[in-house]
Amino acid sequence: MVFTITPLTQHMGLEFRGLDLTEPVAAETREALNRAFIDYHVVVIRDQQFTPPQFIAAAELFGELQPHDKKELHVPGYPQMYFVSNEQTVPGKRFISGETFHTDHSNHPAPPKATLLFPASLPTTGGDTQYVNMHEAYDDLPEPTKRRIEDLNAVHVYQSRYSPRELRPLSEASARVLPPPGIHPLVRTHPENGRKALYLNPVRIESIVGMGDDEALDLVSELMTHATQKKYEYRHQWQHGDMVIWDNRSVMHKANPDYDMNERRYLYRLMLKGDVPV
Ligand code: SIN
Repeated sequence: MVFTITPLTQHMGLEFRGLDLTEPVAAETREALNRAFIDYHVVVIRDQQFTPPQFIAAAELFGELQPHDKKELHVPGYPQMYFVSNEQTVPGKRFISGETFHTDHSNHPAPPKATLLFPASLPTTGGDTQYVNMHEAYDDLPEPTKRRIEDLNAVHVYQSRYSPRELRPLSEASARVLPPPGIHPLVRTHPENGRKALYLNPVRIESIVGMGDDEALDLVSELMTHATQKKYEYRHQWQHGDMVIWDNRSVMHKANPDYDMNERRYLYRLMLKGDVPV
């Protein structure tokens, strides 16, 4: 397969065109995709046409599927495939998942290394996904801040009592199989590219080990303000056929509910197993 690659910003994101991931993928193409994922953190593969099993097979070019916490919600017929949809509700209101910056499933002792989305239905405009580069954000921190946070660990639970937004409650069956909270360094080193990154998630961080809650909240808020500056961002404007994979060890992301809610936004969503952050 002849394909082209184009950087999406100066600091992250790589676009592939000319690939058809429903066809057998050569070893060197698979290697190029995985290298791009590790070095560019967000990879966009344009012009794909997937059924759910084909999307799963394409995701598995990058690793092994990680089950989602909400066992009760999945694409009909595919328990291993979750989805995001603007048609979901929690009692009394519409529910948009992922509306504030976060990294996925950081409440797990070994959070997923990657998340993938593939759109089945998109609004005419808007509904972008924003990403921020947590390696660049870490590198730019003042040295005293780096020294202050280098040995700190945060406790990540399913939903922090300080979360800026509500998550959908888990069913009893899903809550029963939830792993114990993840206790993760605020600064993690990527196991494959060797770079340090801030590892933050205000939705799930309930405390910082050895620190009072007020001080911990101030610190997380200060680091979030720094990390979410526009200079660290890649903003993905969805097109039909986009398969997007991102590295949860390198970026935070968020969804934008800035479109006409009479239009349907529905994307298939998969995650891939990761390792214990160090
Ligand atoms: C998510 O947080 O995975 C959802 C992202 C999106 O819907 O754009």
